[in-house]
Formats: sequence, structure tokens, C-alpha cells
Amino acid sequence: MTSFRGNTLLDRGNTLLDDEFFPAVLSDSTEVIELERVYIEDIGQHVGEEVAIYGWLYNKRSSGKIQFLLIRDGTGVIQAVASKNDIGEEAFAAADHLGQESSLIITGKVRADQRAPGGYELTITGLQILQNAVDYPITPKEHGVDFLLSHRHLWLRSSRQHAILRVRAEVIRACRNYLDEHGFILVDSPILTPASVEGTTTLFETDYFGEKAYLSQSGQLYQEAAAMAFGRVYCFGPTFRAEKSKTRRHLMEFWMIEPEVAYADQDDNMRLQEEFVSYIVQTVLSRRAAELKVLERDTSKLAKVVPPFPRISYDEAVEYLRSRGSEIQWGGDFGGTDETVLAEHFEKPVFVYGFPSAIKAFYMQPDPDRPEIARCADLLAPEGYGEIIGGGQRIHDLSLLERRLEEHNLPREAYEWYLDLRRYGSVPHSGFGMGIERVVAWICGLSHLREAIPFPRMLDRIYP
Ligand code: 4AD
Ligand code: MG
Repeated sequence: MTSFRGNTLLDRGNTLLDDEFFPAVLSDSTEVIELERVYIEDIGQHVGEEVAIYGWLYNKRSSGKIQFLLIRDGTGVIQAVASKNDIGEEAFAAADHLGQESSLIITGKVRADQRAPGGYELTITGLQILQNAVDYPITPKEHGVDFLLSHRHLWLRSSRQHAILRVRAEVIRACRNYLDEHGFILVDSPILTPASVEGTTTLFETDYFGEKAYLSQSGQLYQEAAAMAFGRVYCFGPTFRAEKSKTRRHLMEFWMIEPEVAYADQDDNMRLQEEFVSYIVQTVLSRRAAELKVLERDTSKLAKVVPPFPRISYDEAVEYLRSRGSEIQWGGDFGGTDETVLAEHFEKPVFVYGFPSAIKAFYMQPDPDRPEIARCADLLAPEGYGEIIGGGQRIHDLSLLERRLEEHNLPREAYEWYLDLRRYGSVPHSGFGMGIERVVAWICGLSHLREAIPFPRMLDRIYP
């Protein structure tokens, strides 16, 4: 590691890494000057002070006597200005040779500057180079998406990806905040399971000491058990679907948040969903405005996401789609294009309720007046983002549920415990599952789900 303080170069080998990692810069007399380590997001509280930033070189340009180093530290980006006068020949030359993504500790004086990106600038007083990175593969020029996905471990550092993943973190935080503050208890569902939830065609099978087991498609069935124990519950975790199709809306591994409520019907369920989704969108709008700006998201559309959401029946939806030229027949499921066409009609997310039971999962409660349709709904996001939530009321009658297991050719033994929930204190109950990546893609305005998750798992990709 190389340290510069003013005009002095001190080569200390790797001491900073071997010893404790402290924000010290050696002065001319090897006297250690302790400077406060500051994160770029907090830099505004340190105007006029000399501070240390621990980061990486994001980009740089030079005008001969002055160099502008863009430094990122994970919390933000700041422009740091180096002049020969301030740091001396040698340090100046060393800075000039730094490659993109070199790791650095920079000390400097904080100045407020309206013209600077972020509103602050650093006048460099010292520089420690932990590593001069050579030939960083992702340069500011355009790269193909395949190349970028193969370098996903590095791509995460780019401003756009960085903004998306901060929005994702905020979405997840908002989900948990909302539920935690509304009386829901987090009860984790298992990932390794003996039975399917959402049909048998998308199961990832694995060997469980000689028995078949599957990666969970949904934590729902376990949440139903938890709801009977705690009343209002949720789980949040990775879920898996072996979807043998390549679409911009499908991942093999995605994260789902699944609330479940005892003594709640489908109307209660939809009311909870519209409150929940609105809270998430409004929270991201207020807390992640800077990130949405990086993503050039039109936030006026998101601002309209407040309760109540429109509700249309499956029957109405089919009629509307046919009037718009779709081939869909009553009884058929919507394709991606159908969802887009439907949602385009509305400014807010729209509930499509009352699907035919035949195209939904085995556990759906039938409508008492029209048993051929289920008390369920999909929530479709506006602007062509498609289904973000699937939910419904669950069958609470034992004999009906037994019949449905049979009709769906599901092995009853694997569901005995689930049937117990209908034997001992069964009550009407409802819940839903919201796919985090679908919501992140919608809020960020992404064209494909692959950017909405740190390391996407897709039909043709499991690396890195
Ligand atoms: O509609 P789904 O299949 O519903 C369930 O799994 C229920 N058991 C949930 C429940 O009621 N607790 O999936 C729910 C949501 C979808 O609306 C979508 O947002 C997301 O999960 N999703 C996917 N996201 C990415 N890739 C996939 N392959 C997805 N499949 C579903
Ligand atoms: Mg669904």
C-alpha cells in the first residue's frame, strides 16, 4: 500500500491491511494523523472539515494540473479534486495512474458546491492506495447484457444497478415495517418441502436422503398453520419455480412475501393488499428519490398509487380483452400481453378477481354463489408490469379440500398435516404472495426482472 500526505510518499507495504484498518494518514514526520472516517451519504455534516473517505475510484478526468477523481464508497459518489500544489508531484502522478475501481482512502477537506454532483466536493490532502486496479472489465462504454450478467459480481457497482438494489432493499424494509407494525408475526416457512403448492409442473426436485423433496414454490401452506397459531403472520424468503420459459417476468428463484390472516375473507384480503402496496410505493418514493432519479423513473405515475385500487371480475376482463382483439376464451388464463392490455386501462394497480377454479391452485375457496369460480384475485401493476400479487381465500372445509387434493392428483399423505388445520378449529382465512422482483421492476421501471435481484437465476444462467 502506498500513502501520500502532502508532498511525502511513504511506502508502508501492506501494513494498513495487516494491522487494524484505521483512517490514518502518515504525515511527513511519520506522525499518525487520525481523521474521522465519513461515509459519503453523511458528508454534508462535515463541511469545512478534513475527513477520510474509504472507497473506490469510479471514474476520473484530468485537466493537466488538476485531477477530478470520482470516488464511490457504497453510500454515494463524490468528486475529489487533486492538485499538484496540494498533494505534490509524486502523489499527483500516482493518482494519474490509477485504474478504474482502484481501492483508495482519500483524505480531504469538504466543500459545499452547488455545481458538484451531490452538492459537495472534496479537496484532496492525502491519498492511500490499497490497490491499483488494472483493466477493470466494465468500462463506461456500452456492454452487451450477456457480458454484464456474466460480470454481475462487478456490475453491482455501477450506478444504475446500485440504485436498483437500494430500491430493492427499501421495498423489503417497507414490506416488513408495514407488517411488523400492523400486528403480523414473522414465521419462516421451510425451503425444503415434501409437497407442491402451485402445481407439480414447476417443481425443483431434490433427493432428501432417499426421499423426494422439493424446493419451496411458496411458503403459503405453512403460513396457514402459523395463522391458526398466531392470527396474523407472514413469511419472507426465496421461492423456486422451474419455469421452462424465457420471459422478462420469470425467474427460477425469486423472493416472495406472504401474509396470511385467520378470520379474514377475500374482501379483507384485497383491502390489506391495496394498503400494503400503496405503503411500499409511497415509502420508496419518499426515501429513495435519489435512486429513482438515477433510474430516470417517471415518479408522477407512482405517486398515484394510493387506495382504493380498481377491481374488475375475471368475466369483465375476458370480455374487455376480446373487445380488444384477444383470442382468450372464458376459462383460459391470461398471457403476459393480456395482463399488459388489461392494466393499461388503469393508472393504479388493478385487482382481477373471481378466476375459474379450474385454472387456479387446489386450495382456492369457491364462490358460494358460483362454485365454478374461486374467491381469489391477481393484482396487476400498471405500465405493463403484469401480476405482482396472487392471493385468495383458502378452503376451510375438510371434505371439500380432500376432494380437491384428489382432483388435482396430489398425494394425500404429504398433506395430512394441512388437512389437520381443517380438523381442529378451522376458520375462513386468506392471504397472498407478492413477488419482490416484480414490484422492484415496476417501481424502478425495468424492462426485465433479471436486474431486480442481485444474482438472477434464469433458464440459461446460474453463473455467477
Ligand atoms: O401467484 P403465485 O404463484 O401465488 C402463490 O404462490 C401463492 N401461494 C401465494 C400466496 O397466496 N401466499 O405467486 C405469487 C407472486 C406472483 O404474483 C408474482 O409476483 C411472483 O409471486 N412470481 C414470480 N416472480 C418471479 N418469477 C417467477 N417465476 C414467479 N412466479 C410467481
Ligand atoms: Mg399467480
